[in-house]
Amino acid sequence: MSLTTDQPDPGINQQWGGRFSAGPSEIMQRINTSLGFDRRLVRQDLAASKVHAAMLATCGIVTDDEAAQIRAGLDQILEEIETGRFVFKAELEDIHMNVEARLAELIGAAAGRLHTARSRNDQVATDFRLWVRDALDRLDGEIATLQAGLVAQAERHAGTVMPGFTHMQPAQPVTFGHHLLAYVEMLRRDRSRMRDARARLNECPLGAAALAGTGFPIDREATARALGFDRAMANSLDAVSDRDFALEYLAAAAILAVHLSRLAEEFVLWCSPAYGFVRFSDAYTTGSSIMPQKRNPDAAELVRAKAGRVFGALQGLLTVVKALPLTYAKDLQEDKEPVFETDDTLGLCLAAMTGMVHDLTADPQAMRAAAIPGHPTATDLADWLVRVLGLPFRQAHHVTGRLVRLADERGVGLADLDLESLRSVESRITEDVHAVLTVEASVASRNSLGGTAPDRVRAAARTMQEQMR
Ligand code: ARG
Repeated sequence: MSLTTDQPDPGINQQWGGRFSAGPSEIMQRINTSLGFDRRLVRQDLAASKVHAAMLATCGIVTDDEAAQIRAGLDQILEEIETGRFVFKAELEDIHMNVEARLAELIGAAAGRLHTARSRNDQVATDFRLWVRDALDRLDGEIATLQAGLVAQAERHAGTVMPGFTHMQPAQPVTFGHHLLAYVEMLRRDRSRMRDARARLNECPLGAAALAGTGFPIDREATARALGFDRAMANSLDAVSDRDFALEYLAAAAILAVHLSRLAEEFVLWCSPAYGFVRFSDAYTTGSSIMPQKRNPDAAELVRAKAGRVFGALQGLLTVVKALPLTYAKDLQEDKEPVFETDDTLGLCLAAMTGMVHDLTADPQAMRAAAIPGHPTATDLADWLVRVLGLPFRQAHHVTGRLVRLADERGVGLADLDLESLRSVESRITEDVHAVLTVEASVASRNSLGGTAPDRVRAAARTMQEQMR
């Protein structure tokens, strides 16, 4: 078909079709489109375009009237988005061209001036940074909510004794509150990692244009400030081509997912009747279609499993960016889905974990009972031998080991050995040793900074609450 400027082929993209005489094949459209996912950037795209238009006017690149028309049109598009009336057109490839095409319908010729001194390359990099920044801010609040739930349970169970494990073998008794606060600390670092990522992310690519900057007298610092960035990015090639901010988001997300999966795994174990440490209500469990007695912790299992998606997203984007020569290549369109999917996954997992933390009922008796077998106060005995009898620790360890063997031979706990039996191994042991052999005495004695003693746990919970305010 022959083309005149008056009657363009309707299949050709009007935003770049000048040198084209035919539209793309159906398969080309399908592989090329990002509209299915990048429509999530629409709010950021509109905000950045408004700021860009205002700057173009301030710098005398478009007239005030044109800028006003553009801004009004963009406001109307936002309104259409919010009321669900915006019509997305897949053939327009991506969200940026959808917005610009609609703007042209709404305001006519002035719409064509918006893309002055700008390219989709700096545009998408700006939109995506804004989006990830919003995601990081939302995530911070969601993690804080989970922390608050954990701290509340930790306070309630500051004195609840449970077995502490190393190698999954009974090691020393700890308190349930202490155990939960360990996760609060991990989450605190997750939040701090995300704050770090946010700080590094907060530079603005806008005005880098396609890759080399622009000859128009733009004010990049003004647009950067207006969008809440700390500064404009210093190098235009870097601005349009790096995605390390998305990688940092995913890396921090992957570590958060690791932490959530560990807690989820503990929930799964603890609510098994073999442990019976906690119980989840009907709200967070499911039944079995064949075994009427079952109560399955599916939500916790899914949080445990969904970490895999997050790791996959990180691995996927690392692989997309790896060895990509500067600057922009369409490969970079593949940067968004891993991030969007991760954001959905984390939102769901954090909500589920927060729900489970509030829902769980601990069984202090079951926990205490499980803390008795395996001689978990053997270290307390050894420490007593050091403290009271002045034995070197290595020798105290040896004496205690022999007493453990004696207790095992008799099928009793260390605390059940009478004074005579204790003295058969170390003649200077006195009756008051028994006071350190209970699990309660053991946890109460561990009041070093960061230790499991109930008083420490209460204080740590209070500190955490204050920090989170
Ligand atoms: N949809 C594209 C992306 O997400 C926008 C940038 C397109 N740039 C280009 N030079 N084709 O990467």
